[in-house]
Amino acid sequence: MEEITKPVEIAPGVYWIGFYDPEAGFHCNPYLLVDKDEAVLFDAGTKPHLSHIVRKILDVINPQKITYIVLHHQDPDLCAAVPDLELICNPQVKLVCAWRAGVLIAYYGTKSEFYYVDRNNYKLTLQSGRTLRFIPTPFCHAPGSIVTFDEQTGVLFSSDLFGAFSYDWSLYAGPYYMEAMKAFHEPYMASHEILKRNIERIEKYPVRMIAPQHGSILKDDKVQEAFEVLKNLECGDVFIPIPEEV
Ligand SMILES: [Fe+2]
Ligand SMILES: [Fe+2]
Repeated sequence: MEEITKPVEIAPGVYWIGFYDPEAGFHCNPYLLVDKDEAVLFDAGTKPHLSHIVRKILDVINPQKITYIVLHHQDPDLCAAVPDLELICNPQVKLVCAWRAGVLIAYYGTKSEFYYVDRNNYKLTLQSGRTLRFIPTPFCHAPGSIVTFDEQTGVLFSSDLFGAFSYDWSLYAGPYYMEAMKAFHEPYMASHEILKRNIERIEKYPVRMIAPQHGSILKDDKVQEAFEVLKNLECGDVFIPIPEEV
């Protein structure tokens, strides 16, 4: 297995800074993007693993260089520790999200200014001129869900999309990943039609690698395979009968 006690550079300047728990079937994957003298965090507010995440950030850069924290939606597995992260990031750090997510993220007690992608043409330009693009993925799984596409590396930071449940975890997706990915999407994504439309929107971008917030990183031919699997997946059938239902 990859050396995962340290940050792993998955693409030039893009680091996996997560924590592997061998007892868990559900792993969170925060990421750090370093662009010259500036850095961006993605979905890094995972409270139970905060000390590991901060340690890994410190292994790569001075956290004062972090000027943006991208939050792809409002869930606690990526947002709960944002108030803690704000204390070590640049004092001018901004929280990047869709407006619909931001109205809920504020309830974690965050202090930083928001940068709403839907009021900024779904783009963020860094000091170097590098552009991050955001793609709205409504109801996959939250109304304000977005994903980020980094044009420079071709990495798609996909948040819950392309994530997986699996006790057999590895940093890069193995041969059984598609089944684990289906097991996560079936109960979490709203419907086949919504999932399909969102994947069709994403696949128009030249994605070279998918970095999800759960499960494993997808590269090479697994990217296209995952697009096909999700476009064809039946999901969101949550109306399971309950005993004595009338
Ligand atoms: Fe979520
Ligand atoms: Fe999540």
